[in-house]
Amino acid sequence: MSPSLFCTLALVALAVPSTVVAIPAPVTFDRQITGNVATVERSVEARAAPIKMMLGNDDGWAEANIRQLYADAQQAGNDVVLSAPAKNGSGSSSLNVLFGTVTGAEYGSIPDGAPQVGFNQTDPRLNYANGTPVAAIDQGFQQLTKKFWGGAKPDIVLSGPNVGSNLGAITLFSGTVGVANFAVKQGVPAIAFSGGDSTRQSFTALQPGDVSHLYSELAMTITKQVTSSTPFLPAGVSLNVNFPKLSANCSKAADFKYVFTTIYPLAQTIGCTESVRTPAEADVIASGACLVSISAMGSNKLDVNPSIQTTVFSKLEPILSCADVKDHILSAILPLGTVLGRRDDLEDGVAKTVESSINDRL
Ligand SMILES: *[C@@H]1O[C@H](CO)[C@@H](O)[C@H](O)[C@H]1NC(C)=O
Ligand SMILES: *[C@@H]1O[C@H](CO)[C@@H](O)[C@H](O)[C@H]1NC(C)=O
Ligand SMILES: *[C@@H]1O[C@H](CO)[C@@H](O)[C@H](O)[C@H]1NC(C)=O
Repeated sequence: MSPSLFCTLALVALAVPSTVVAIPAPVTFDRQITGNVATVERSVEARAAPIKMMLGNDDGWAEANIRQLYADAQQAGNDVVLSAPAKNGSGSSSLNVLFGTVTGAEYGSIPDGAPQVGFNQTDPRLNYANGTPVAAIDQGFQQLTKKFWGGAKPDIVLSGPNVGSNLGAITLFSGTVGVANFAVKQGVPAIAFSGGDSTRQSFTALQPGDVSHLYSELAMTITKQVTSSTPFLPAGVSLNVNFPKLSANCSKAADFKYVFTTIYPLAQTIGCTESVRTPAEADVIASGACLVSISAMGSNKLDVNPSIQTTVFSKLEPILSCADVKDHILSAILPLGTVLGRRDDLEDGVAKTVESSINDRL
């Protein structure tokens, strides 16, 4: 989206007062826990109450990936509220702008003329804001925390899984990462999930075996590890997680290994002593191996220092693989700095801005 279009939209947002449609009594949480008692007990055993999770994304509230994660997070016994844009807002980074009355919502999921902030009448935990991804999660923090949690902040924010990778310097411009970054700036730990598979579809079209199920399962494995003890993450830290595209060798959750990575190529070794250095996330995804990259990101959207990385590594260690770093990555690794990021998630105009900004930063 061009800057001038954003200005126009910002003016529209100023002209239209923010309205929240009438709020029916919140549904009770018990009703939403389905049969899987073992999972429920496991995820709440360390805490008295279910974990308060707020979900956001940049592809839009009706995208299949976020709806599947919503379903799976509820299934696991968490207290989940979704607050995401009415429309695809990929590439919006941390812009926080509401656009006014809804027109042309994603997949026709909201009628034209609906208020700029609203929710699904059947399931009020499904909320949209007609604005940027960060505006939608901001509405969640401002309004939905009061509606569902007596004003308490979420325990964790999950963003995505994005349709398309968010690797290296592209993270600076990703709305998915922008949502996670907004949360850590409010003192709430967060995870940004992105997947290399570019299938976009409405949640209403979801079929068993679609990639959304797989990405959600992988996201829940990481989320369960992060939330298995407090603090979930060090203060000011979010995770940037990328799943590879699916392939014949990489088609079910058990095929995947999790690798600790850095956002930018750095000459350091965290955790895996047999590595020459901790691989950059883009190198891990480019290797074509069935590996999920997990980087620790600071509130400035850059890699955190090695000491905090080591803390995060230790937290994730039960699910991390070091052997796979050695076997698959270091043999295939590209020269330092070759892979800075991918354009998948960006419009051309934004990609050009990204490239000139990268040149400025390096
Ligand atoms: C609203 O929620 C109901 C119940 O979960 C669901 O059947 C319907 O598809 C949802 N619609 C949207 C647009 O979210
Ligand atoms: C799939 O795995 C087999 C056995 O490890 C390997 O020989 C083959 O090259 C892999 N295929 C791809 C596309 O990576
Ligand atoms: C969402 O926006 C991205 C970036 O502009 C674009 O590549 C993608 O095609 C859009 N998706 C849809 C469903 O409009």
